[in-house]
Amino acid sequence: MTVRHFRNLLDLNSQELVQIIARASELKKMLAEGVPHEYLKNKSLAMIFEKSSTRTRVSFEAGMTQFGGSSIFLSPSDSQLGRGEPIADTARVLSRMVDAIMVRTFSHDTLESLAKHSSVPVINGLTDSFHPCQLLADMQTYFENRDNIQGKKVSWIGDGNNMCNSYINAARLFDFELSIACPPGYEPMQSLLDANKDRVHLVRDPKQAVISSSLVTTDVWTSMGQEEEQQKRIVDFTNFEVTSDLMSYANNDAIFLHCLPAHRGEEVSAKVIDDPKSLVWEQAENRLHAQKALLEFLLCS
Ligand code: CP
Ligand code: NVA
Repeated sequence: MTVRHFRNLLDLNSQELVQIIARASELKKMLAEGVPHEYLKNKSLAMIFEKSSTRTRVSFEAGMTQFGGSSIFLSPSDSQLGRGEPIADTARVLSRMVDAIMVRTFSHDTLESLAKHSSVPVINGLTDSFHPCQLLADMQTYFENRDNIQGKKVSWIGDGNNMCNSYINAARLFDFELSIACPPGYEPMQSLLDANKDRVHLVRDPKQAVISSSLVTTDVWTSMGQEEEQQKRIVDFTNFEVTSDLMSYANNDAIFLHCLPAHRGEEVSAKVIDDPKSLVWEQAENRLHAQKALLEFLLCS
C-alpha cells in the first residue's frame, strides 16, 4: 500500500478534504457527548518541533490520547537531530517505531526529505512555506458556522506567508475566490499565484480585498524565524491592520479568522478579534477535531 503524506493541502483531493472536515465535525460531537472513539489504540505519533508551538502540539497530543494512542514530543535540543543526525536517517528510524510522524520545521525541503525517507505518513505541522493543518480547521470553522465556502470570496490581509500560501491551495481545492492584500515585497509564492490566476488576486489596498468577502483572515506580520525583521515589518505593514472599519467593507455575515497567536494592535485590532464575528477560539479548538480526522484518514483508510 502506498503511504499517504500530508505535506501540503494538495496531497489530498477536494473530495477527501471535504470528507475529512465532515468527519472532524462528527468526532467533535462524539467527544462532546462522551462517546468513546479509541480508533488509534496502541498507535503512536512522533512529533518533531524545531519551532515553538502551543496549539499544534496540544491538539495532536490530546487528539492521540482521545484516540487511545500516544504521542512522543521531540525537539532538536533533546534529540540527536540537534547534534546533526540527518533528517533522512531520522525518518528511517522513526518509521520503524511509530505509526505517523508530524513535523514543524523551517525549510519545506526538510519536510520533503523526511517524507521521502519515511515509510509512515508524514504530516506538516508548519514549515516556512505551508501550514495545511491550520487550513483544515479554518475550513471546518467556516463550514460549521456558515455553509459551503464554494464560490465565496475570502480575503487575506497582510504577509504573504506560510498561511497565505496555504489559503491559495485552499482556494483551488475548496473552489473559492481569494483576494490577497499585501505590501510590496511581501507577496506569497509566485508559482502559486501563477498556477491559480483564475481565482487568486493580488491587490495593494486592503479595502479592495475585503469588499464582498465572506471570510476575512490575517496572521502575524513577523513569523517564527523572522524576528530580526520585526521593526522593519511593523513599518512596512502600516495600514494592513484588520480594524472594525476594514471589516465594515466585508459582507454583513462575514466571519474573522486568525490562526493565532495574535498581536492585538498590529495585524488585528482588539475590537475585531474579540468581536462576535471573530470565531478564532472555535477555530483553534477545531485544530483538535480536524487533525483527529486527518490522522484517522491517514492511518485507517
Ligand atoms: N496556529 C498554530 O499553529 O499555533 P501554534 O504555533 O501555537 O501551534
Ligand atoms: N505565520 C506564522 C504562523 C504561526 C502559527 C508563523 O509561521 O510563525
